[in-house]
This record gives sequence, C-alpha cells and structure tokens, in this order.
Amino acid sequence: MHINPHLFILPRTPAQIVWNYKDHIQHELDYDYSKRLGQLINNPDLFNSGNTIDIQLLNAGILTVSKTDNTEWGWDELSKIYHIGTQNIPCKHIPQNIHEWTREYLDHCNEVLAAPLPPARRMLDNASTRIELPTPTTPAHDNLTHALTQRKTCRSFTGAVLSLNDVSSLLYLSFGYLHERDSSADGIAEGLAARRSSPSGGGLNACECFLLAQNIEGLEPGVYAYHPAEHVLTPVNPWPQAPLGQLLGGQHFINNLPLGLFITARFDKLWWKYQHSRAYRMAFVEAGHLSQTFQLVATALGFNTWLTGAFADDQVESLLKIEGSAEQPLFFVGCGESDGQAMCQEMLDLLREEQS
Ligand SMILES: Cc1cc2nc3c(=O)[nH]c(=O)nc-3n(C[C@H](O)[C@H](O)[C@H](O)COP(=O)(O)O)c2cc1C
Repeated sequence: MHINPHLFILPRTPAQIVWNYKDHIQHELDYDYSKRLGQLINNPDLFNSGNTIDIQLLNAGILTVSKTDNTEWGWDELSKIYHIGTQNIPCKHIPQNIHEWTREYLDHCNEVLAAPLPPARRMLDNASTRIELPTPTTPAHDNLTHALTQRKTCRSFTGAVLSLNDVSSLLYLSFGYLHERDSSADGIAEGLAARRSSPSGGGLNACECFLLAQNIEGLEPGVYAYHPAEHVLTPVNPWPQAPLGQLLGGQHFINNLPLGLFITARFDKLWWKYQHSRAYRMAFVEAGHLSQTFQLVATALGFNTWLTGAFADDQVESLLKIEGSAEQPLFFVGCGESDGQAMCQEMLDLLREEQS
C-alpha cells in the first residue's frame, strides 16, 4: 500500500484537510482518521483490510495500491502543487457548439455582474496632489503606434487563408532567434546567446511555440513545431478531429481561426538555472511577453488577434506530443482576417433577442 503522492495536508482545527491536488478532491478528516493516516504515513505496511478506516482511506484515493507519481519536477513542492493543481480543471460542461457557448457565457457574465465591481483602490480625491502630464505623442504614421492602438481581441474571424510569407514573418518576429542580433556579445555562456524580440528570463528562451495551421497556403492542416534557431517547422500531428473551439474551453467562435500558436515552457531549462519555485512565475511572465509581441506583429501585418489560457492540459499535451515531459503548455494565441468584432455574431444575436 502507498500514500497517494498527490496529496497535501492543511491543518484546520479541529480537522485535517487532505487535498488531492491532481484529482481536485478535498477530504476533511476527524481526529481518528487523521491519527490512523499518520500511522499509515509512518508505515504503509500497517494497512489492514479489516479496518474500516483503512478501507475508507483507500476508497477515497488517499491510499493507493500503486505508486503513481512519475512527474519530473525540478522546483520544490510549492509550484508543483500549484501547477498540477490548476491543470485539467474539472468543467461541469464544455459547450459542444457555438450556441451552447454563447448561452453559458452570457449566463456567467450576468452572474458575475450581479455583484458590484471591487472598488478602485487608487484615489484621485485630492486635486492639489495631481501632476498633469503632457499630451501623449502618438505619431500618426508610426508602425508601432499603429499596432499598439489597433491591437484588439476579436471573436469573429472569416477563416480566410494566410500566406506562408506572413506566417514566416509572424513566427520570426515573435518567436524566432533574431539574426539581426547574432553579432551582439550579450550571451554570457555558449548556447545562451540567442535573442528574440521579447525579453527572456535568464536569456534561456525557455518558452517555445507550436503552430496550429488550419488554413495556411502551402501547409497541410496540422500541428507543427517551430524551431527558432533554424526558422523551420517540423510536423507533429495532423489537424485534430474535433473543432478547435472544443480544445479551447468550448469557445466555438474560434473554430475557423486559420492560425494558432501554443506557447509552451521548457521547465527543465528553468530548473537548470533557477532552483527556487519563484522561477515558475517567470515562465508565465515570459509567455506574456511573447504573447503581446505576437499580437503586435500580427496587428502590424493587418490581422486581428485572439488569445486564451482555457484548455485541458492533457489534451493539448498529447496534441503537441509533449505528454509527461518537462515542457508544458501555458497559453494560446491566434490570428487571422476578421470583421473586427469583439463579439461573435451568435452573441450579438442573443443579446438582441434578450433585449427585445
Ligand atoms: C491572460 C488572458 C487570458 C484571456 N483569455 C481569453 C479567453 O479565454 N477568451 C477570450 O475570448 N478572450 C480572452 N482574453 C482576452 C480578453 O478578454 C481581452 O484582452 C480583454 O477583454 C480586453 O480586450 P482587448 O484585448 O481587445 O483590449 C484573455 C486575455 C488575457 C490577457
């Protein structure tokens, strides 16, 4: 007999909360159960099938007959609990089509909006302490200003084909290793000299990306790994059977998105340089930088963008063929031609219906 390796225990007088963070289940143990669990933690061989508490602990999954943890993890338990504990969040129901998603999302928004927004914490009540700033300069014909002011999350794409040239520019300028910076002597160690258009924690470029090509000229629909040093793609998987939105939290308005990218992080690279769990935060910060750069490049190329962190990790890991590895999916970004609407047509229709 073994103690389930995915547990942590919280003292909450008078009980002990045993949290199975992988399966998202919590148990409250009273003193007798806690005492017995303590004995079994000390020596799992004391398990007695004639003892009701032991059987209940086994049925609850607190004890297991097989050791199940083969997760590779280089930081301390803190980030492991958080990372695994926020993976594959049980969802009561994944919307199966755009109409289900629209109804459920609108209900959710109405539920949220029923309570007031938390009040602002920054007060502007004392006019005498205000420092007026000059009018911002936003050069009318500057590309960066244009991209910054035009970037917008859109939820209504036409599905039009993207040229391979545009895809190449997008990948190079957001995830590629820039040959424009090849000559810089910034790298302190061999193998760490590569630079992207976004900053990277420790210069490790721990984040990577996979291309989801649905409608790209000259590219078979499918999943591809992008190799930033060589600026090439290699095939990973054919296009998934289920619509894209099914994979992305039931957000079916995205089903015809021609291009998407999964941003992943190679935790093993971060473990190598930074042992403390705080480095876990940096993986997400880096993914955020890359995401924003992607949005700006896509906008500059004349596309509209979309992004999400809503997906079932297991499904994405197997689509990207990174299951059980130290490379983990963090975020999804995508772009394409759009009518520029922040709401999909089905949501606009439903809102109109509700108002009439
Ligand atoms: C971390 C993060 C997660 C997001 N997740 C979603 C999402 O799951 N679905 C979606 O439609 N938009 C998502 N968005 C987009 C936001 O809703 C959007 O950025 C916000 O409403 C502001 O609009 P704007 O991007 O047009 O400025 C996400 C944005 C961020 C930064």
